[in-house]
This record gives sequence, structure tokens and C-alpha cells, in this order.
Amino acid sequence: MHLSNLLSFQLLALAPFTAGITVDADSAQSLKDAATTAAASAVNYYNNRDPSVRNIPGQFYNTWWEGGAFFTFLINYWHWTGDDQYNDLVNKGMLNQKGDANDFDPASASMYMGNDDQEFWALAATTAIEQKFPDVPNNPSWLSLAQGAFNDFVARWETDKASCGGGLRWQVNSIQGSGYNAKNSISNAGFMQLAARLARFTNNQTYADWADTVWDWTMSVPLLDNQTWFLNDSILINQNCGAPNDQQWSYNYGSYIAGLAYMYNFTNGAARYKTGIDGLMGQLFERFFPAEYGSNTLSEISCEPYGTCNRDQIIYKGLITNWLSLVAQLAPYTYGEIEPKMKKSAEAAGTQCSGPNNECGIVWHNTTWDGTDGIEQEMAALSAFANALVFFQYGSSGYTAPETPAPVTSTTGGNSTSDPSGGMAGGGEQTVPQPKPVNTGDRAGAAILTVIFATAWIGMMVWVAYGEFRF
Ligand SMILES: *[C@@H]1O[C@H](CO)[C@@H](O)[C@H](O)[C@H]1NC(C)=O
Ligand SMILES: *[C@@H]1O[C@H](CO)[C@@H](O)[C@H](O)[C@H]1NC(C)=O
Ligand SMILES: *[C@@H]1O[C@H](CO)[C@@H](O)[C@H](O)[C@H]1NC(C)=O
Ligand SMILES: *[C@@H]1O[C@H](CO)[C@@H](O)[C@H](O)[C@H]1NC(C)=O
Ligand SMILES: *[C@@H]1O[C@H](CO)[C@@H](O)[C@H](O)[C@H]1NC(C)=O
Ligand SMILES: *[C@@H]1O[C@H](CO)[C@@H](O)[C@H](O)[C@H]1NC(C)=O
Repeated sequence: MHLSNLLSFQLLALAPFTAGITVDADSAQSLKDAATTAAASAVNYYNNRDPSVRNIPGQFYNTWWEGGAFFTFLINYWHWTGDDQYNDLVNKGMLNQKGDANDFDPASASMYMGNDDQEFWALAATTAIEQKFPDVPNNPSWLSLAQGAFNDFVARWETDKASCGGGLRWQVNSIQGSGYNAKNSISNAGFMQLAARLARFTNNQTYADWADTVWDWTMSVPLLDNQTWFLNDSILINQNCGAPNDQQWSYNYGSYIAGLAYMYNFTNGAARYKTGIDGLMGQLFERFFPAEYGSNTLSEISCEPYGTCNRDQIIYKGLITNWLSLVAQLAPYTYGEIEPKMKKSAEAAGTQCSGPNNECGIVWHNTTWDGTDGIEQEMAALSAFANALVFFQYGSSGYTAPETPAPVTSTTGGNSTSDPSGGMAGGGEQTVPQPKPVNTGDRAGAAILTVIFATAWIGMMVWVAYGEFRF
């Protein structure tokens, strides 16, 4: 946790605890209100982030990819609620991180960038084009930025046998030793999803062919078993493209499912994508909506039960609710299966937003606030609330989303300008980035402050608790 967060956290601790954000997922107004509360809180964290990055639009402290997810959720928020008060903040942040080559590979992030990191920004841009989030005049279009990133991934795709006969590495640069030696599910799922989304939006078969290439490759290495649909996290190039890591993360499943749903829709329902959607969604539902919590509440099972979720992992539930909302639209036969899971998860997330000032924790299935807070928690809850509004898209409760609900294409209302040669194929900036690794001194300092503040905070909590009981 960062100093700025700790300070606001300490102040927040003075506010009384609440019963959470009461969400009735059968009421569009209730979901909108909840989304508005969570969006305001997330943006408040963003506006008050660490002073070292506060004046750099789109730059988060000690992490870069998070911005891609943050802006995706804010575009979703605008799309589903019509509230445009954060649109300018989104424009500024995304355009500032687009990089000189217009491919979301800015020099400031380039050296320590993973393919997955860059993909999350490109997926924010595809979200913009599909939800008709307007291009900013005199700037590269959202579509051209996504195309620029796509061209980088094509250039980085390796085909030689020693490099696993295909696949993107996790990290882009060789200085990232072990990450550079790994090919992982999320980097390849993100590329597949991006390609599938560009195929559907532009109706350009080249993108669809790439989505197929990535999908077929994933099943040809020890990442995905297409009989059981068990998906591994990563394999190691120098271990003969083996030694699979089988850690289970919801976003690996979710990102492939979304990519398949776009291909399913683009091909007007081709069976091979339906098989993949059904197989992977079966695993996602069984693993990440645990039966012990009623089978409808999302839980990041590899960290949440142990209280070990890091900043990245806290956001995954937000990604899943975003992607499931898309899947329900693009493969409407899944709608009925997804609806109870999205609705129940939105309601559960609301009960967990019962910290001071409705701050949200991580453990949605527990109605007692878990004592954590942060922008990541707010982002995940925001996505759960806003994206559950998809279940009102057919006007069943008299609510119609302000914009055409289903993701548009270039022939159904999308008008972001295409530039298939966007970016600089070959991958990334030519300028040498200036790395700024966190030095251990900062970390130690932060740890000491954490202890001091945590101690002070626990003391305060005890005081608040006893204070309330005694007087
Ligand atoms: C499953 O993977 C194998 C091996 O790559 C492939 O031949 C087969 O077509 C795949 N099945 C489906 C349904 O995609
Ligand atoms: C995934 O990893 C596990 C554990 O290492 C392994 O048993 C399994 O065979 C791997 N899956 C595939 C498709 O190779
Ligand atoms: C593709 O998506 C549209 C928009 O939601 C939907 O109407 C259509 O039925 C989908 N196509 C298939 C094959 O499911
Ligand atoms: C719910 O959270 C509270 C506070 O963190 C904890 O004491 C309790 O054991 C949790 N309950 C369950 C069922 O996990
Ligand atoms: C694209 O459509 C939006 C409305 O959705 C409109 O405001 C904008 O001017 C259009 N842009 C172009 C270049 O036509
Ligand atoms: C389709 O996309 C490919 C790959 O970016 C590009 O080379 C080609 O020019 C595009 N075709 C059209 C008609 O835009």
C-alpha cells in the first residue's frame, strides 16, 4: 500500500462503517447508483495517487497496465450509465500513454513492459471503438492505436520450433530474464482477443486469421487441454516449452472466452468457438464461482481465501465481469447462464463495500468488510455494477442503455478511423527508455510506514469500536 493511500485510509477510518452499497441487481437504477459511487471512489484514488506520478495522465504508481483496465471500466461506466463526467480524464490518460509510435508502447514503460500490459491498453481502445466512445479530434483514433499495438504483437510472434512454434512471450525485453523465457496464457489470450475484436469491428479477415493462429497454438503446447479445458498459466521456453505452471487465475480463462465469443459472433456461430466457450466457461464457473459460496459469486480462488491477492489480482474480478457482459451479448445463448452469476456477484460486491465511506474490500462473498481498500477494489466493484446493466439491454425492466447496447462494428455505427498500418511494425519505440526500478530503500521505507500506520489504524479501530459501545 502506498503512503498516499494510507493517509486517506487513516482519515477514512474516522468515518462510520456502513452496511455497504445495497445493490438490487433486478433494478437498473440500483446498479447505476452503485456504479456511480464506485466510479467516484476509484477516480478519487486516481486523482490522489502517489505524487511522483500524479501529474502524468494515465500513469499509476509502480504499475503501468492498471491504467488500461481503469480506463476500460470508466468507458464501460459511461456506456452503461450515460454519465460522461470522466470522459475527458479517460481521453487524457489514454492519449498520454499511447507512445510516440501510437501503439501503447510508451518509452516510459517500454523496458519493463509485458505483452499482456500493452494488450490491456489496446483492449481499452477496442472498448472505446465498440462502445462508440468518440475519437478525440486531431489525435490518433482509438482504432488506429489498437491496430498499432496489434502490429507490434504480429512482429513479436515467433514461429521457430525452439521458441515453441508460435506464441508471445510474457515479457517483451530480454533483460526481464524469467518473464522473457515464459510464454503465458494471458499474453496470448489478450492477443487473440484483440485480433478477434479487430476482425469483428473492421471485417478484415487478416485479424481473424491471427485469432485462429493464437487459439490453435494455445492448444498445441502444454497450456490448454481441449478435452478437459484446464488452462495453465505459463510454460518455459528453455524447458522445451514445457514445465507448465498450473496456477489458476480467472483472467486467463476469461480473456480466451471473450476472444472466442468475438470469433463466434464474427463467424455467425462457428461450432469450434462454441465448443471452446462452453469448455472454458464450464471451468471458469466451476472454479471461480465456488459452490461453497452458492455458485454465483465470483472469487479469485488462488489468492482470495488466503488474503494474498496483490494489486493485479484484485482487478481480475473486474475483468471477468466486463468480459462476461460481452460474452452474453456476442453469444446470446450464454445469456441465461451468465445472468445469475453477474447479478449475484454485483450484489455481493455491494455488501463488501461496507468500509468507511462505502470503501470496497476484496472478498465479495463475505458481507463483512475485509479491512482492505484501494483503487483496485473500487475498479473491480465498478465493473461488476456497471456491466451487470447488460441484463437490462432488452428493455425488460424499462431500462435501455443510452447507446446501442451490443458492441458495434464499422458497419453498425462504429466510426473510429481505421489505419491498418498503425504503429511501427517491428515493435515499440526506438528510443532507449529510462528505467526507474523501485529501490529497496523506498520499499523498506514504505514497509516501516505501513507498520506505523497499521498500528495507528488498529488503535483507532479499537477506539472507534469501544467508543461506540461505551457512549
Ligand atoms: C484440440 O487440440 C488438438 C491439438 O492441437 C487439435 O488437433 C484439435 O483440433 C483441437 N480441438 C478443438 C475442438 O479445437
Ligand atoms: C498443465 O499443467 C499441469 C501441471 O503441470 C500438467 O499436468 C498438465 O498436463 C498441463 N496441461 C497441458 C495441456 O499440458
Ligand atoms: C452476434 O451479436 C449480436 C449482437 O448482440 C446478436 O444479435 C447475434 O445474435 C450474435 N450472433 C450469434 C451467432 O449469436
Ligand atoms: C468474513 O469476514 C470476517 C472479517 O474479515 C471474518 O471474521 C469471517 O471469518 C469471514 N467469514 C467467512 C465465512 O469467511
Ligand atoms: C462518430 O459518431 C459520433 C456519434 O456516435 C459523432 O459524435 C462523431 O462526430 C462521429 N465522428 C465522425 C468522424 O464521423
Ligand atoms: C487488413 O489488415 C491487414 C493487417 O493489418 C492489413 O495489412 C490490410 O491492409 C487490411 N486490409 C484492409 C482492406 O484494410
